[in-house]
Amino acid sequence: MTILGLVSLPRFKAAVLGATGVVGQVFMALLQNHPFFKVKRITASPGKEGLEYRKALRAWIPPVELSPEYGRLTISSFEDVLEDDDIKIVFSAVPRQVAEDMEKKLAQRGKTVVSNAGALRMEADVPLINPEVNISHLGLLERQKRERGWSGAIVKNPNCTTAVFTLALKPIMDRYGVEQVNLVTLQSLTGAGLRGYYVLEAMNNVIPFIKNEEEKVQRESAKILGTLENGEVKPKSIDIWVTTTRVPVVVGHTEVAHIKLRDNPGSLNEVRRTLEEWRGETGDVDTPTLPRQPLLVYEDPFRPQPLLDSYIEKGMTVAVGRLDLLRERVLRMVIVGNNLVRGAAGAAVSIAEYMHEKGLI
Ligand SMILES: NC(=O)c1ccc[n+]([C@@H]2O[C@H](COP(=O)([O-])OP(=O)(O)OC[C@H]3O[C@@H](n4cnc5c(N)ncnc54)[C@H](OP(=O)(O)O)[C@@H]3O)[C@@H](O)[C@H]2O)c1
Repeated sequence: MTILGLVSLPRFKAAVLGATGVVGQVFMALLQNHPFFKVKRITASPGKEGLEYRKALRAWIPPVELSPEYGRLTISSFEDVLEDDDIKIVFSAVPRQVAEDMEKKLAQRGKTVVSNAGALRMEADVPLINPEVNISHLGLLERQKRERGWSGAIVKNPNCTTAVFTLALKPIMDRYGVEQVNLVTLQSLTGAGLRGYYVLEAMNNVIPFIKNEEEKVQRESAKILGTLENGEVKPKSIDIWVTTTRVPVVVGHTEVAHIKLRDNPGSLNEVRRTLEEWRGETGDVDTPTLPRQPLLVYEDPFRPQPLLDSYIEKGMTVAVGRLDLLRERVLRMVIVGNNLVRGAAGAAVSIAEYMHEKGLI
């Protein structure tokens, strides 16, 4: 009971793997005072076990204060998380190389893992979810449990660039059909985690290549925008040309898209309304983290900008601008989304909230 005499619902105990990294920190921020989940355990790289969280941090990135309660948590080993049967849900923000083994062990042990790490994203029985776009792909979990024999589950959210891109593309694809996309990205430094390398390299500079990023955008977009049929995701066939670059911006990826449509829109106003009125597959649920409006469109040609537009609806809304029909059936848009929230922790927390509301955890 609370001091007001109201019954407080028990919250699921959660763990955050990689809580000291940039994505892990955003998880911690989003899960402070969360109505469904309470973080009980956190991990970092080996050797940091027993350290107090606030002392283990090199820098605190989220734009909200760290709560004293979470700041005092001590770092656990992975084994402690694995063996703690009180923990029902695990948010994963560890490097790809260690994620696969850890996440499989957790799912086998009965925990629901919602993960940012690239490993397993393209496995046929692993849902890759951008909530408003394809929450229905959670239907794959039945097959996952059946084929792997896990009592828990693994769900992935996409690479940050793909999350921002597919959110803006989906309503356009559904209404007009999309034949081809030419996408150029200008990605923030936090997209590369807390490594100093990029900060020094990228100051006053543009790095014209991000390893493996272009391939990820192509294959993950095809899976997310695909359709789930008889326990299998049929990938969407869209010709996407993509060039990814790193720029000296701290948070917020900018993506410039030229989209060849199947049908010519009636007007630009119609396209604007299509984007702004779209609520996607999660339109029927009300959860703490999903935005009321997933896409916001600017008419001001100086917007969107990562500095001004990365925190709309706590970073979950993606901003679109420079909308224009450059040729018959060729739409141009500039898209800005928060790589750490929409592109990582916020999408994962939204998936977990949805699963909680639907009784899937
Ligand atoms: N940054 C983004 O925009 C973004 C977006 C989507 C997905 N992702 C993915 O999310 C994951 C985390 O990314 P990030 O940007 O937050 O990286 P990061 O800042 O480098 O953080 C990595 C976290 O993992 C921990 N860690 C490192 N090596 C480990 C090991 N061997 N065993 C256990 N833990 C280890 C680190 O602990 P220490 O602090 O002790 O080193 C830290 O807590 C990655 O898989 C990444 O690809 C990132």
